[in-house]
Amino acid sequence: MAMVDPAVPRPVTVHLDPAFAVAPVRRRTFGSFVEHMGRCVYTGLYEPDHPTADERGLRRDVLDLVREQGVSVVRYPGGNFVSGYRWEDGVGPRDQRPTRLDPAWHSIETNAFGLDEFVSWARAAGVEPMLAVNLGTRGPREAMDLLEYANHPGGTQLSDLRRAHGRQVPYDIRMWCLGNEMDGPWQLGHQTADEYGRRAAETARGMRMIDPDLELVVCGSSGPAMPTFAAWEATVLEHSYDQVDYVSAHLYHEEQDGDLASFLASSVEMDRFIGDIVATCDHVRAKTRSSKRMQISFDEWNVWYMRRFLAEGVPTEWVHAPSLSEDDYTVADAVVVGSSLITLLRNSDRVTAACQAQLVNTIAAIRAEPGGPAWRQTIFYPFAYTACHARGTVLRVECGTGPVVETARYGEVPLLDVVATHDDDADQLVIFAVNRGQRESLVLDIDLRAFPGYRVVEQCVLTDPDVRAANTSAQPDRVRPQTLPGPAVDQGRLSVMLPSVSWTMVRLATAG
Ligand code: AHR
Repeated sequence: MAMVDPAVPRPVTVHLDPAFAVAPVRRRTFGSFVEHMGRCVYTGLYEPDHPTADERGLRRDVLDLVREQGVSVVRYPGGNFVSGYRWEDGVGPRDQRPTRLDPAWHSIETNAFGLDEFVSWARAAGVEPMLAVNLGTRGPREAMDLLEYANHPGGTQLSDLRRAHGRQVPYDIRMWCLGNEMDGPWQLGHQTADEYGRRAAETARGMRMIDPDLELVVCGSSGPAMPTFAAWEATVLEHSYDQVDYVSAHLYHEEQDGDLASFLASSVEMDRFIGDIVATCDHVRAKTRSSKRMQISFDEWNVWYMRRFLAEGVPTEWVHAPSLSEDDYTVADAVVVGSSLITLLRNSDRVTAACQAQLVNTIAAIRAEPGGPAWRQTIFYPFAYTACHARGTVLRVECGTGPVVETARYGEVPLLDVVATHDDDADQLVIFAVNRGQRESLVLDIDLRAFPGYRVVEQCVLTDPDVRAANTSAQPDRVRPQTLPGPAVDQGRLSVMLPSVSWTMVRLATAG
């Protein structure tokens, strides 16, 4: 076998063409997730005593970062939390709201923040709210009640209750999740696929009797490693195919046993997972003779050091808003997040909504100290840049033979992960690329002959000699993307250096 000198960058040729269209860039790809878990809501979104809090108790410093991150849609209120939640507890005068046990995270829930506050927060943040209903310990009746409270204009008990709470205008929430991770034995009210499929279908039917145009998400598997994966989707969809628009997917990545090579290749698992879900959905479509193509709502994904979380466990005492899973994300984590976004974009023909889990403090891109500052984690940057600049149409990038890495978890994996978007109206082309290699740089040789007149306007790179470097309250700007002088396009070819363990964005536009 030929020896590879890591000091010599390895070339890989890629071809771009506007004809290689996958699908439109969907704004909902850049969603996030707010759960009543740890300090995501309390001292994350909501902290009335914080110096930046507005008159509603919403942290303005966090709102600013959410806007900067470019988040489009936010799923709420869980997660595992929703399967024990009564939505009525979180509306109306605060002094009359009950304090309850939250069994999912062994916490005290004061209900000081609920649906009305969430919708106010979502409006202030400029994001679309997406709601999950409790199908664990509740059923169709309560889901329909919540829908009536949220979306009906008035003249009924529950819509008038909302109006009495000072919200005259209906919330008009379009996207609804029919429960959460109902395949998981840890879930309150866990069901078999047949039980859940029937319950989801009947809930969807009832909700559509109130509003036929809702977009409904049925629970898929909690991850590809679930023993019931694929059989679960097939059974659930056989019951509910006509009633729902999306099946959900959840997947968290983490480095295991110091295997950085496999970790950096995590998006391979995400890509295969999506392919398997699509195959299962299309099998049910054929079987049910449906003309509808099921979409995927990848409504929980991120890097999550879950093994650490499970080893630490939740506090044994019942406490309000404990610190849970407040991981300090590294450069390597940011590269995996960048690569996950590339995967989601590449699958935009079927993945039409996605939520990074979660938004603030708990498994989050944004951190906020109680009474203190808020800052951007490393993983904030690839998300923010992709959400801001991916526009128009997703383009498949045709890659020549390039270097590969042998990984314990996924076998042989290309070092390069890449996708592009093309905005025909604005004449803008954006390339997002990751080098998964731990030692070797790559030289991306881009064939741009199908894009005459385009030149580089910006090149941003997130990398660091220390792949474990992270941003903390003491050093909130330790890791930031660097802007480099963009290379010149020469006779329809562009050469871009991708350092080892890096995420890169190259933006091009026409000269005029
Ligand atoms: O995001 C944290 C948890 O992960 C969610 O509550 C649950 O849906 C998933 O298992």
